[in-house]
Amino acid sequence: MTLEQQISELAKGAVKALYGVEAEEGQIQLQKTRPEFEGNITMVVFPFVKIARKAPQLVGDEIGQWLMANGQGLIAKYNAVQGFLNLVIDDGFWMKQLEAIDAIEDYGQQPSRNKLMMIEYSSPNTNKPLHLGHVRNNLLGYSIAQIQKANGWQIVKTNIVNDRGIHICKSMLAWLKYGNGETPESSGKKGDHLVGDYYVRFDVENKKDPTLIEEAQEMLRKWEANDPEVRALWAQMNEWVYAGFDETYRMLGVDFDKIYYESQTYLEGKSEVEKGLAAGQFYRGEDGSVWADLTSDGLDEKLLLRSDGTSVYMTQDIGTAKIRFQDYPIDKMVYVVGNEQEYHFQVLSILLDRLGFPFGKELVHFSYGMVELPNGKMKSREGTVVDADDLMAKMIEDAGEMNKDPEVARMVGLGALKYFILKVDPRKNMLFNPAESIDFNGNTGPFIQYTYARIRSVMRKAEELGELRDMGLLGKLEEKELALIQRLCEYPATVRTAGDEFSPAVICNYAYALACDFNSFYHDLSILNEPDVTKRSLRLLLSKNVAKVLKSAMNLLGIEMPERM
Ligand code: ARG
Repeated sequence: MTLEQQISELAKGAVKALYGVEAEEGQIQLQKTRPEFEGNITMVVFPFVKIARKAPQLVGDEIGQWLMANGQGLIAKYNAVQGFLNLVIDDGFWMKQLEAIDAIEDYGQQPSRNKLMMIEYSSPNTNKPLHLGHVRNNLLGYSIAQIQKANGWQIVKTNIVNDRGIHICKSMLAWLKYGNGETPESSGKKGDHLVGDYYVRFDVENKKDPTLIEEAQEMLRKWEANDPEVRALWAQMNEWVYAGFDETYRMLGVDFDKIYYESQTYLEGKSEVEKGLAAGQFYRGEDGSVWADLTSDGLDEKLLLRSDGTSVYMTQDIGTAKIRFQDYPIDKMVYVVGNEQEYHFQVLSILLDRLGFPFGKELVHFSYGMVELPNGKMKSREGTVVDADDLMAKMIEDAGEMNKDPEVARMVGLGALKYFILKVDPRKNMLFNPAESIDFNGNTGPFIQYTYARIRSVMRKAEELGELRDMGLLGKLEEKELALIQRLCEYPATVRTAGDEFSPAVICNYAYALACDFNSFYHDLSILNEPDVTKRSLRLLLSKNVAKVLKSAMNLLGIEMPERM
């Protein structure tokens, strides 16, 4: 039972005994005591003033006295100010809370719901390497998966690789024409970068010779017709790209339980579209293309198959959704995709619903904002793209200037990047200034990592000194100790809020507040130099659990914690 629940039960008993009424739902109002008053939790007594027919002050005093007498020591003191009854919780209660927290290895983890959430994130195209926008996507997707797992969901992390289509044919065609057989081995380039370079090259050449795009379209038709040469080239170039992506994912620390490929799902989509056409849900244009009329839903008309029969982005999503729901007993499907595709997912939801898939209506598009650069928006063809591999390398290099140990530099550099991105409300656009945005102080990942490493170093020393025995918890709590215990008590509710709101930022704020509380405690009070053994013991137990919760919270963000820094 939480403290609120315990007080609420006691308060019900009080009004029953004092005024003979059963308090109704919502009548017991509890809030955190305002800092100008003494107390931890405050009961609002106004709802009972009428029933008691007494002045608010008196009602407060009466309930306060009853709680003191009947609360089995939970309430140490009270003060009633008008209709507000401020309750001071006994130190013994807080110490018991700390012991309870200490006893739970995975403190914060919520009970299983026996429900499956599939979370799709990353979902790159195979014509270019991952960039800063993907970094935000991957970090959000991974962190949300971690947070929902902590909220008791069974999680399947998935990825749809858009591995076919006109954009892929552009890089293939450019490589064929201008590549002279270049490979990742011959050039020393990472495979995804090599293929991306030919995608850029296509645009350059197509400006000089606009018929190139027709050749690419012809190539796509051949691909769909299973032309062996086109297929072989496609398989080869995609293999290079996947090797590159794998390296980027590994460095970023993200992974997937099941990867889908558009090339394996788009035919399913096509056949669904054809079924819909036969059933009169879609119509054929004069040129033979297939369309959905969504005007009755307040949207426009949507192309589903081109006049040459090739499928479009939407077609593939229909097939992918169908196959996913065949493969898994999905209770909730979440697509982590940028807000520029809001319309796409609105349409997808309606189309799936029309095709008779009950899950269509329930889709969740986790729509996040763009990452902007100081000099304008980030778009792949404007030459201002921040490459994911370069970005990570730069962060690690910067972190290395302060940490000689390469493993620590890796954790800190990536920790800085991840925290910087995740602390922003996911729905908002964010500004990323590569030059100055990463600060290793203040509300940053490295600050929290450093706090953790500091605690770990105290704990190592305590262990050497044989200080880690259980002394039992006694005595009075200092203000800073109490603040820390209270903060630790908030962790499970914070995990729930982050889950309800799909917000890693909630976890960032919590971890930062906890780290600040610890540093303030550490500044004011000594741990190992404290002469009183019971105080020393309490502070060590407190430190140990702050470290545990910091590590757990940062794990929900995908951030690793170095043992020393
Ligand atoms: N590959 C797409 C792109 O880069 C994103 C895919 C998002 N997921 C989806 N199911 N449509 O724009």
